[in-house]
Amino acid sequence: MQVWAVANQKGGVGKTTTAISLAGLLAEVGYRVLLVDLDPHGSMTSYFRYDPDELERSVYDLFSQTRVDAEQVRELILDTSHDSIKLIPASTALATLERKAVAQEGMGLQVAKALRHLQAEYDYVLIDSPPVLGVLMVNALAACSHLLVPVQTEFLALKGLERMVRTIQMINRARKNKLPFTIVPTFYDRRTQASVNSLRELHAHYPEHLSNAVVPVDTKFRNASLKGLVPSSLDAGSRGVHAYARLLRSLLEPREQE
Ligand SMILES: Nc1ncnc2c1ncn2[C@@H]1O[C@H](COP(=O)(O)OP(=O)(O)OP(=O)(O)O)[C@@H](O)[C@H]1O
Ligand SMILES: [Mg+2]
Repeated sequence: MQVWAVANQKGGVGKTTTAISLAGLLAEVGYRVLLVDLDPHGSMTSYFRYDPDELERSVYDLFSQTRVDAEQVRELILDTSHDSIKLIPASTALATLERKAVAQEGMGLQVAKALRHLQAEYDYVLIDSPPVLGVLMVNALAACSHLLVPVQTEFLALKGLERMVRTIQMINRARKNKLPFTIVPTFYDRRTQASVNSLRELHAHYPEHLSNAVVPVDTKFRNASLKGLVPSSLDAGSRGVHAYARLLRSLLEPREQE
């Protein structure tokens, strides 16, 4: 089982879309995929037509006790529109967690520990995280073996990314191995100077981390979310899906990444 997290301290850069798009493509090649929604807003949960305000069980339950057994983790898992994609949903209760976690030691590994129980059941786990550095993002970064950082190709894109890179460096001090990460340029529009310039800057500053797949602005993503379908089920030929397929190929070829 491989665990990938998607994070950036900036909001609205395509984190949830990246996680869901990759999940769809992984499922299509036959992998068993689990999505974990760690964002209190629950966009990923809502995407699959669950209401984060109404759910009785959610990822929040992993934080309400120090030890969670395999059965308790399995009880959190919901179906999605795709047979081989399952979801551990978020609930709005997650928003109260930051305050509580400060008082409790060892809350940074709750998700990592829970996922260990599912080792044999899934091939890929994709964790969506909130755009805030806190206990939820720390859990996502601690649980994963690879991090995806979507970056919107716009004016000052690099500024927001620098904060995220500092967070990765901080996390690396507590890890045995450095967390590998891939920067995924999103909302690319080659007709705008801001997109072209920011992609050039990303290339200049982070050549070894920059994905060669660039995700264009594509309205199909919104259409897919309105239907609750993964983008590749709605339109496998769209430019956006092509970009995520290219990203996925590079992630699945680890030697090319090194
Ligand atoms: N490449 C794209 N082209 C056009 N629209 C996109 C693209 N990627 C995402 N979107 C749309 O932009 C909005 C924000 O995307 P998304 O929810 O994935 O961002 P996010 O980083 O998860 O946001 P948040 O920080 O609020 O969680 C959504 O409505 C999504 O459908
Ligand atoms: Mg999101």
